[in-house]
Amino acid sequence: MIDLNIKALTELTRRFLPDFVKRNHGKILNVGSTAAFIPGPLQAVYYASKAYVRSFSLAIASELTDTNVTVTVLLPGATNTEFGATSGMDKTALFNKTASSMKVSQDGYEAMMQGKLEKISGLTFGQKIMMAFVPLTPIKIILKQVKSMQKTIK
Ligand SMILES: NC(=O)c1ccc[n+]([C@@H]2O[C@H](COP(=O)([O-])OP(=O)(O)OC[C@H]3O[C@@H](n4cnc5c(N)ncnc54)[C@H](OP(=O)(O)O)[C@@H]3O)[C@@H](O)[C@H]2O)c1
Repeated sequence: MIDLNIKALTELTRRFLPDFVKRNHGKILNVGSTAAFIPGPLQAVYYASKAYVRSFSLAIASELTDTNVTVTVLLPGATNTEFGATSGMDKTALFNKTASSMKVSQDGYEAMMQGKLEKISGLTFGQKIMMAFVPLTPIKIILKQVKSMQKTIK
């Protein structure tokens, strides 16, 4: 997972970006996750790898502000793809309700075309409220909540 989510993404950016900068044109859209904002007990490496994707993408985007090259990171919530079954997360409370993959990918594409830094997409109203309170909530409570949401219930 580290090879795919971190190493491959970094390597691809390294390989394409110099040419983008040379011609002063180009857009990168990296796929993170709302998992980037919180540690994820029972999916520890996945959540940590997505924190890397967000941090790396935002930092590179800032380094490029004097150019016409932009980097956008898409941060989806639970989305209806093969991912739920592959990761086993479809058996957790987090995947009780999933967003449409069409809507999430469209949000990402539009954010990239507008050169936005980041785009959160596919959260329910309740999840949006929860995410807004993350910075204000004691970390022990967040860890407990995420752990319980990640437990297999089906
Ligand atoms: N779905 C969600 O709820 C959700 C939420 C947040 C973030 N994301 C992120 O969205 C991205 C796309 O996932 P998805 O939801 O579209 O899941 P998906 O339907 O399972 O698609 C995953 C894709 O990754 C490819 N892949 C898997 N392992 C690979 C490897 N070792 N090397 C190269 N390609 C590999 C798969 O290729 P094959 O089909 O050839 O195996 C497939 O095309 C991922 O970065 C995921 O972390 C998804």
